[in-house]
Formats: sequence, structure tokens, C-alpha cells
Amino acid sequence: MKIIMLGAPGAGKGTQAKMIAEKYGIPHISTGDIFRANIKNGTQLGMEAKQYMDQGLLVPDELTVKILLDRVAREDCAGGYVLDGFPRTIPQAEVLDEALTAQNEKIDYAIDVDVPDENIVKRMSGRRACLKCGATYHLEHIPPRTEGICDSCGSGLVLRDDDRPETVLNRLKVYHDQTQPLIDYYSRKKILRTVDGTMDMQDVFHAITAILG
Ligand code: AP5
Ligand code: MG
Repeated sequence: MKIIMLGAPGAGKGTQAKMIAEKYGIPHISTGDIFRANIKNGTQLGMEAKQYMDQGLLVPDELTVKILLDRVAREDCAGGYVLDGFPRTIPQAEVLDEALTAQNEKIDYAIDVDVPDENIVKRMSGRRACLKCGATYHLEHIPPRTEGICDSCGSGLVLRDDDRPETVLNRLKVYHDQTQPLIDYYSRKKILRTVDGTMDMQDVFHAITAILG
């Protein structure tokens, strides 16, 4: 099963993608996580991506598409995957479709986790992230067992550089301008499903599994 997660920054794409990946035994692929891992390791790609990410801008398609296509070509993706944060522009969606069509494959579902802008800024300021394993927490909703420490790998948790309120507003604008058009794109392909992302995260997950079966 090949799944795309759509939704504004902070809608809960990563939280749900992780749960989907576990239940269905498929890899969770987040372009944001791949960029953050590269930033942490000081790679050339990381340095380039950081310039855009810190301003809340999208990393250019040329950089992003190659990374994603390389990743989904790996063996663990043979049985499907859940994409989180890709595609984010119409050109990215078109490149992915072309690559899949060439292999007689297709995306099965594009799931839009719908959360109004008003809820987003509040969520982001409470988020804490593990840059080592990609786990995500929320100070109020999903606190770690020990304050500031990742439950899964024991590393320190941080407020992401791009979760400062002024950057979040910029990311929301970029989302509405460049990413929201994908909702129409996948609706026309008849694979769009929308879930209410303002519900409790377990209820959001139930809504998603009702769709995926
Ligand atoms: P990326 O890492 O993809 O960030 P994003 O889309 O802005 O999304 P987030 O990760 O911030 O939010 P999320 O929807 O995953 O929410 P989460 O589950 O954490 O991208 C970062 C940057 O990388 C981009 O700005 C761009 O520069 C670059 N980039 C990445 N991909 C790219 C691409 N394809 N092209 C170009 N550039 C790209 O949840 C948020 C918080 O809310 C958490 O604290 C969580 O615990 C909490 N929460 C989750 N669900 C609920 C719930 N139901 N109720 C209450 N709280 C909840
Ligand atoms: Mg995420």
C-alpha cells in the first residue's frame, strides 16, 4: 500500500504516519526528517536545506525529488510506504506519478489531515522533537516519560528551529500557496480522503484505519 499524508505544518502528518507505518508494516518516509538528519550530520545537503527550512521556505524541488526517488527505490519499499511531507508542490507530485507509472505502480491513498490555521501555532510551540530517531512529543498532549528525553532512544529533545511562531506563520503561508493545490490534484485522481485532524490523535488514527482497511 502506498500512502501520501497531506496537511498543513503541524497537522499531525508525522504522528499519524508513524502509527500507520507500524500497523501496516511499511516504512515511514519523511523528507523533513531526512533533511533534519542531514543537518545534524553536517552534510552538504543538510547545509543547503537548512537555509530554506529556517525561513519556513520549501527546499527546491531539484534537491527534494532526487532524495525521495532514491529512498523509495530501496528494497524495504517494495511492499509500499507512507510518505510524510512529500509531495509538497504540483511538480513534485507529477515527478512521483511519472516514476510510479513507469513501473506500473500508483499511489493508493492521499490522506489529508485537516486542521485549521488557528490550532496550528499552538501545537507547534508545544512540540518537542528528537533529532536522532525522529520521534515527536507535545508538552501537553504527548509528554515524554522523562522531561526533555526521548522515550525511544534516550537522546535530548529540542524545539525545532522552524517551530518559532514567526517561522510557523511563514510555513502556513507557503503551505496555502504551494501545497494546498495538491488537495485538488489528488481529488481529481479520486484517491483523496479527508480526516478531521482536530480530534484526539487516537480518534484521527481510527478514522484513517477505517479508510485504509
Ligand atoms: P516537515 O518536517 O515535513 O514539516 P511540516 O510539514 O511543516 O510538518 P511538521 O512536521 O511540522 O508537522 P506534522 O504534520 O508532521 O505534525 P506532527 O505530527 O509533528 O518539513 C520541514 C521543512 O522541510 C519544510 O518547511 C521545508 O523547508 C522542508 N521540506 C520537507 N519536505 C519538503 C518537500 N517535499 N519539498 C520541499 N521542502 C521540504 O504534530 C505536530 C504537533 O502536534 C506535535 O507536537 C504532536 O505531538 C501534536 N499532535 C499531533 N496530532 C495531534 C492531535 N490529534 N491532537 C493534539 N496534538 C497533536
Ligand atoms: Mg512532521
